[in-house]
Formats: sequence, C-alpha cells, structure tokens
Amino acid sequence: MSDDTSLSGLELHSEVTSSGELILSLTRIDVGEPGDDEVVVRVEASPLNPSDLGILLAAAELSTAKTTGTGNEIVVRATIPAAKLGGFAGRFDQPLPVGNEGAGTVVRAGRNVEALLGKRVAMQGGGMYVQYRTLDAAQCLPLPDGVTPKDGASVFINPMTALGMVETLRREGHSALVHTAAASNLGQMLVRLCEKDGIGLVNIVRSAEQAQILRELGARHICDSSLESFDADLIEAVAETGATLTFDAIGGGELAGRILVAMETALRRKPGAYNRYGSQVHKQVYVYGGLDLRPTIVDRSIGMAWGIGGWLVMWFLEKIGPEATQRLQARVLSELKTTFESRYTAEISLTDALRPDVMAAYNRRATGEKYLINPALDAA
Ligand SMILES: NC(=O)c1ccc[n+]([C@@H]2O[C@H](COP(=O)([O-])OP(=O)(O)OC[C@H]3O[C@@H](n4cnc5c(N)ncnc54)[C@H](OP(=O)(O)O)[C@@H]3O)[C@@H](O)[C@H]2O)c1
Repeated sequence: MSDDTSLSGLELHSEVTSSGELILSLTRIDVGEPGDDEVVVRVEASPLNPSDLGILLAAAELSTAKTTGTGNEIVVRATIPAAKLGGFAGRFDQPLPVGNEGAGTVVRAGRNVEALLGKRVAMQGGGMYVQYRTLDAAQCLPLPDGVTPKDGASVFINPMTALGMVETLRREGHSALVHTAAASNLGQMLVRLCEKDGIGLVNIVRSAEQAQILRELGARHICDSSLESFDADLIEAVAETGATLTFDAIGGGELAGRILVAMETALRRKPGAYNRYGSQVHKQVYVYGGLDLRPTIVDRSIGMAWGIGGWLVMWFLEKIGPEATQRLQARVLSELKTTFESRYTAEISLTDALRPDVMAAYNRRATGEKYLINPALDAA
C-alpha cells in the first residue's frame, strides 16, 4: 500500500578496515515503497545473540574503543589484533548491516500482501538493527494475538536450533544427547523441550550457579566441568541416558574430546562390549557455536566410530525442507511463552548499543545477560 509521507530511519553498520580497525556507526536510510510482495516493518525488538556479536564486533579489542560524535552521529572505533584480522578479509572496507532476526509492526505493505498492514511479525534475513526493515513478506511470520514484538524477537534462531537438535537426534537414530554451555538461553529451552518430549539430556555447565539454574528448571543430568569429578560424572550421566550425540556450543579446547571419551568409556564397559577397534556404536559431536575459538583437541583413545562436524540451523532447515520447517515453526509459535521463552537483561536503543560501557556488558555473553535492541527507542 502506498503512503505519501516519506520515511527514513537509522541503520547500524559494522565495518572492518583492511588496516585493522572496527568502525561502528549509524546511517540514516530513506525507506522506499515496498515491492508488490514486500513489507516495511518498524523494528521494535531484535536480540543480540552470540552470532550477531561475531559480526558486530569482529574480534576487536573493546578496551581500545574510542567514541566520537554524540546521539545519532556517534562513531566507535576499536583495534582488531593483527593475528585475527585475516579472518575478516572477505568483509574488508564494507559497512555491513547486522542483526539476524527481530520483530516489529508492518507499516507499509505491497499490493499482494496488504493483509499484513498493521500486523506484528517476526522476521529473519539479517540487517535487523535498523528502524525500518524492508523485506519479502515470505521472510515474516505473523505473531499470534497477544504476542508482543519482544516476545517474538527470538522466534527463529534459538527455538528452531533447539528443535533442530532434537530433530537431528531422531533422524540420525540417537536416543539422548549431551549439550555444552547448557545454561545459555538456548540451553534452558533445550532442557524444557527434552523434558516435554521425554528425551534424555546431559547438561554440561561450568559453574555451581549455572548448575543451580538448570536444577530449578528440572534438568535431570547436570555435569559441572569446574569440578574434579567432572569426567567421572560425565561417564555416569552418559551411561545412564545412553547419549551418543553432542551439540557443543564451545568448540575450542578439550571438552568435545572429553565427551567422546566419556561416551566411548560408557559403551565399552557394557558386558561383552570388548572390541579391539573400540565400540562400534557411532558417537557424534556437532560443534554449533564458537564460544571458544581455539583448536578443537581430541584424545584418540575413542575407537573408530566417531565424528565431529559443524552444524548450522539455517542449513539444517534447508536440508529438511519447507514442510518440516513449517511444522517446527508452528510448534515454536504455540509454545512461545513456555518452552521457547527468551528472557532479556535489558532493552537498549541503537545509540545505546554503541556506548562502550554497554558494549562491554553485552559482549560478556554471560549466562542470563542477553540484550534486546529496540530501534524504536531512538528518535525517528
Ligand atoms: N549453529 C547454529 O545454528 C546456532 C544457532 C543458535 C545459537 N547458536 C550458538 O548457541 C550458543 C548459545 O547461544 P545463546 O544465545 O543461548 O547464548 P547466551 O544465552 O548468550 O549464553 C551464552 C552462554 O555461553 C557461556 N559461555 C560463554 N563463553 C564460554 C566458554 N568459553 N566456555 C563455556 N561457556 C561459555 C556463558 O556462560 P558464562 O556465564 O559462564 O560465561 C553463557 O551461559 C552460542 O554459541 C550461539 O552461537 C548456534
């Protein structure tokens, strides 16, 4: 639907220069008329997930951050260590939009999708740290009545990843799984989901506080990697659940290898299980996050039936196809305020997101400290 009033809004950009500088800024963008199948959405909520932080901050040393300008004119510059710069060569000197997913209200709609005008929708497709996002209506999911943009901001990534993990387990013939960094927002969803679906889940955390959070959610198997008894505890939990699949958000260091050792040990100790090549039961680790970017170290005393691979929700959904994806999406919407609820520590504007003290806070990626950007809080 056409509207004569001109519309413009701020968009957050992240640029990595070939000389090793990160530049964050806000740019005013004119919003054109949407195409026939497009909508313009006023973005009112978009989470700052670890994957967004990777694009936004690009491994810059935040202690070097310097700010110039005020209000919408704010620009942040920080140094990227030379050793890490090569990894960003593909995006040198290009200001990139950021923000994988979000939610808001449709303020303009093309002629084929006018029914969406005024509706609240969740969106995927990137570039969500912006006041107005123009996108194909097919990338939007209308939110049910009573669901606010804040409730719907994280519909796509974490809930679909938790469901994708369970779907992977079923499709690959496993009966229980291990999850690392398990007190994360996603980990808490997975605890509720596995409990509801009757799937065995071993939760690996790294502190007593995180163990307590999961205990209060009803998690049955929690192994704290900060305890001396961790490896023994893990073997017991894996043996009890029969877990042969792991989703590892950490990736770097020795944890993935220690989980494989625990699985192999639990399988080998079954009566009559001896085989000189190790257990024939396949043990799989999917590294699905990069919370630790060091190399992944695997102790090879794990026989010959194991694998480590990467896993990305978008590619998994492409693999299972649109029908299965829609089934999972419908489940997310129907359990949005229960199984798939996300909690946020603070709601911030685009300009707040460029304040060095706020950047340091959200970059901690700490348990229970997820931030939500609401670009509608910035002056239009
Ligand atoms: N592959 C995919 O398709 C996909 C999709 C969605 C999410 N993810 C990944 O899923 C993970 C969780 O996302 P989220 O949004 O739920 O995160 P979140 O709520 O922001 O929580 C992050 C968690 O990671 C822990 N953590 C941070 N660094 C760690 C380290 N080096 N070792 C162990 N634990 C560490 C934090 O614990 P502390 O408080 O102890 O720091 C916190 O519990 C992220 O890695 C994200 O990238 C991947």
